[in-house]
Amino acid sequence: MTEIRIPASREYSVWIRRGLLDRAGERVAAVTGARRAALVGDERVLSLHGARAKASLEAAGLETAVCSFPGGEQGKTLETYGAVMNFLAERRLERTDVLVALGGGVTGDLGGFAAATYQRGMRLAQIPTTLLAAVDSSVGGKTGVDLAWGKNLCGCFYQPDLVLCDPEVLTTLPPEVFRDGCAEVIKYGLLGSEEFFHSLESTPVESQLETVIARCVAMKRDIVAEDEFDLGRRQLLNLGHTVGHAVEARSRYSVSHGCAVSIGMAVVARGAAAMGICSGDTAEAVVRLLRRYGLPTETAYSGRELYEAALSDKKIRGGKLHLVVPEAIGRCRVMTMEPEKLRDWLEAGGVKWM
Ligand code: GLY
Repeated sequence: MTEIRIPASREYSVWIRRGLLDRAGERVAAVTGARRAALVGDERVLSLHGARAKASLEAAGLETAVCSFPGGEQGKTLETYGAVMNFLAERRLERTDVLVALGGGVTGDLGGFAAATYQRGMRLAQIPTTLLAAVDSSVGGKTGVDLAWGKNLCGCFYQPDLVLCDPEVLTTLPPEVFRDGCAEVIKYGLLGSEEFFHSLESTPVESQLETVIARCVAMKRDIVAEDEFDLGRRQLLNLGHTVGHAVEARSRYSVSHGCAVSIGMAVVARGAAAMGICSGDTAEAVVRLLRRYGLPTETAYSGRELYEAALSDKKIRGGKLHLVVPEAIGRCRVMTMEPEKLRDWLEAGGVKWM
């Protein structure tokens, strides 16, 4: 069993072990001391893993109610959030009870936001069932829902009490969902470790799954420890997300998060090479690795469409855009610029304006 301690405002552990889903109840009960649990997930994930998770929670003495919602980023709305809140209230759950978010990034964000705000904060366990959630969204306490105006515009920071990751669950993911997580994994390599980036070239993620999850979580731990509230270094984790979120929003979330981030990383890497911030070889290595994992590196949207979508993004703060750009494999920096400069970056990155 791998345990990674996250030293945030609420300190907690991420446990990684095959078969952990069947032992989830013990850990949830021991860490939270809750009497009751709300097991929250989308219909697909609950049909696959809900019975095992519920049995494990009940075996540990937790009275468990199951709250399901339709899946997909389209469902990460205030309406679904309201339905989860009403579910908790109708069953008279208390703040000492635990919300168990079983699923991918949408469930983690939505469930986390419900836990953060129900009676001003109840106990929270994250059980990621996608690679993307395991390496990124289940750790670090970002919670929220989308608004019609953009992604994650309504939310808060709320660290979980524990994160339980069972890599076995990830081996049965549909290929396109697994691939989505690979984009975030490649992001960690490009951000912080040349050696890790090259290991992804030589050994597929699925052949080193536990190691990959542990390395990504450890990198995220270091960033969150330094900048929990995303005021400085944590912005590096937005590599590929400025253009990525614009692609997602513009497609009304029919382009998945991982594919959108992949496009975003490719655009920004090409742009950085064109502007002399990184070498052409660096940009080529990024695009090559993304493609090796079957990830897209081009978009059919015009620069104008993406620019307009990007203006609603949270990454514009104080009227400035904070764009994460690669300098080399394993080293990136945050560049602060006028939002209009994004047009130059899109064009340099190979996205035609019209
Ligand atoms: N997913 C980016 C972050 O947690 O900051």
